[in-house]
Amino acid sequence: MSETGFVHAENLHRTYSVRRGLFGRARALHAVSGVSFEIPKGETFGLVGESGSGKSTIARMLLAAEPATSGQVRIGDLVLGSLDASGEKRLRRTVQPVLQDPYSALSPHLRVAGIVGEPLGAHGLRQGAERDPYIDSILNSVGLASSLRRRYPRELSGGQRQRVAIARALALEPQALVLDEPVSALDVSVQAQILNLLKDLQRERGLSYLLISHDLAVVAYMASRVGVLYLGEMMEQGTRDDVIRRARHPYTQALIASSEAGLDGPVAARGEIPSPLDLPPGCLFEPRCPHASARCRNERPALRPLSATHRIACHFDLPAVDAVSSADASLS
Ligand SMILES: Nc1ncnc2c1ncn2[C@@H]1O[C@H](COP(=O)(O)OP(=O)(O)OP(=O)(O)O)[C@@H](O)[C@H]1O
Ligand SMILES: [Mg+2]
Repeated sequence: MSETGFVHAENLHRTYSVRRGLFGRARALHAVSGVSFEIPKGETFGLVGESGSGKSTIARMLLAAEPATSGQVRIGDLVLGSLDASGEKRLRRTVQPVLQDPYSALSPHLRVAGIVGEPLGAHGLRQGAERDPYIDSILNSVGLASSLRRRYPRELSGGQRQRVAIARALALEPQALVLDEPVSALDVSVQAQILNLLKDLQRERGLSYLLISHDLAVVAYMASRVGVLYLGEMMEQGTRDDVIRRARHPYTQALIASSEAGLDGPVAARGEIPSPLDLPPGCLFEPRCPHASARCRNERPALRPLSATHRIACHFDLPAVDAVSSADASLS
């Protein structure tokens, strides 16, 4: 793997041991299997997939909130999983989360200034006379007036709350943000404002983003590189144009079809997502795929290169599908 990235995820696996009922035997749930990507400095990797595909599990592994079962995450010179206390502290200053629901992410008992300033206190940074002007400057950088500093989260709109969550994430001047569905709880009219704010902050600060969304249009708008996740496995991966303008995997093509139909929810593929505890032996998408053959039922396709940047996990060479017109239209 090249060393152009700032964030490296290499062959990540995450397995949970789950039990059905009190006396059921433990079974392995493969939430994430063999996922690799890298995020260069100042760029966005967009991870798209339906509910349960493993997006948040990958987010938690990047934040070191839980360990990988195998594989490795590296962020800058930090290798997650082998950090001592000072390494952990440096990691907190390097990568920060912004989550879906800004209301539950913000302490209801703290005012805005307390929420944004809390990480500073924990790290002993910008204390004393420096603190208030610094908090004001971060609030201003996310488009909030300093006068909001004494408000409680319940007194703010959804968009303002998400701006506070972004301000808090920026307080320690991180180099990367993990954005897990950062706009899906917001009104459509507010979504574009927050996405544009995130783009501005990225440009100003050279931030690397892992952007997670179930919405292909959001990923198409934000990301320079895209991965399409299904039941924990990467189905298609490449540059934005590889995946959005030259989609070659039937699952990506189904996502595009549902995005074009304006569906926000189930993809335009027949059937249900299989249980992650009872995965098909061949291709994970085979039970729902309009092109499936006997080979697909028996043989799990490896993620294979189509070009230097573009990979798909499919036995077929289907013609490309271009999503860009619909993706741009739905965000303009
Ligand atoms: N702590 C856990 N214990 C057992 N199974 C888990 C745990 N966390 C996640 N899973 C399972 O792992 C799989 C991936 O879950 P994950 O939350 O990462 O999906 P997601 O893509 O973020 O979904 P959503 O779009 O709904 O947020 C799911 O089958 C989920 O039920
Ligand atoms: Mg999730």
